[in-house]
Amino acid sequence: MQTTILPTGTPQERATSISRAASALRGGELVAFPTETVYGLGANALMDDAVRRVFEVKRRPMDNPLIVHVEALRQAMELMQEVPPCFAELAREFWPGPLTLIVRHNAAVSDIVTAGLDTVALRVPDHKVTRELLRLLELPVAAPSANISGTVSPTTADSVYADLNGYISCVLDGGPCVVGIESTVLDLTTRDPVILRPGTVTREDLEDVLQARVYFATDVPDRPASPGMKYRHYAPNAELVLFAHDLADLHQRIADALREEAARGVVTGLLAPDSYADSGAAHFHSLGSGEAVEYARHIYAGLRALDSAGCSLILCPALPDEGIGHAVMNRLRKAAVRIVRD
Ligand code: TXA
Ligand code: MG
Repeated sequence: MQTTILPTGTPQERATSISRAASALRGGELVAFPTETVYGLGANALMDDAVRRVFEVKRRPMDNPLIVHVEALRQAMELMQEVPPCFAELAREFWPGPLTLIVRHNAAVSDIVTAGLDTVALRVPDHKVTRELLRLLELPVAAPSANISGTVSPTTADSVYADLNGYISCVLDGGPCVVGIESTVLDLTTRDPVILRPGTVTREDLEDVLQARVYFATDVPDRPASPGMKYRHYAPNAELVLFAHDLADLHQRIADALREEAARGVVTGLLAPDSYADSGAAHFHSLGSGEAVEYARHIYAGLRALDSAGCSLILCPALPDEGIGHAVMNRLRKAAVRIVRD
């Protein structure tokens, strides 16, 4: 199968591409689509065979459930058995946006999508191309990130193409993703809401809206995180080494490490804020101003770019583990082989 990249630059291209993607999904084909977080690999959530193909193509374990993407709150309601008390409030505040809500599902949702759980993950993505697609389609779309399991999530149509060319019908090109890391996953089926996967909607954001405590799965004894969190994730081919944010002379430490690795003949990349641009790295990928949102936006594209440049080692200064930095560090720690602390 030849995979087509569908452009959406002009209004005409956009209309044609969206209608083509909608027909493909209706017919049970797989379509990658843009969201504000990362690109998704979509299948018609009501067609089991199509959803099964998502697991095959991604080489994803069947016990790791998918997020169902819907156009609006109304469509989400059609899939739920009961509406948790804070659901409407959160949806109103954060949808469309990078927050996935876990609720109990009704009979409309298949066991293939949920890996047999009695809960389903729901999200309204915030990307105008994809919202138009979902509106036209009038069907829920089951989608994980559009990468091969265990590799770095894609934030451009080209990254999707690099991983999945030949396996899927088309990639709807909506440009680079603005958020850059996957959505916050929040479980609403327990007494207190629990964050199963941190994202750019932070615990503080959720607590502000709910005026109630929100927990991290990692802080609740015996509370498993999302099934997906147990798998190795987000790993580039190169070895990623992080440098703790509070190291003394951090800039100098990194510049020294780059010089030593270069002397040993190791092709080394530096993934860091603009203030590190003159550290002497043979390959540099910018994390913009270095604020946590900028890290989130550029981190996956950077890991992929430095891999493609042939680096076997990537150095990256870490962030303080708080707010959006906590979500970024969750991904970076999983991708890294070690963190230099002293
Ligand atoms: O931003 C995102 O969430 C992107 C875009 C494409 O929407 N999607 C994404 O999907 O990251 P994926 O499949 O890579 O990650 C979904 C996470 C996994 O950790 C999975 O285990 C968890 O959500 N999940 C899905 N359904 C669940 C459920 N019913 N209960 C608990 N965790 C669930
Ligand atoms: Mg993923």
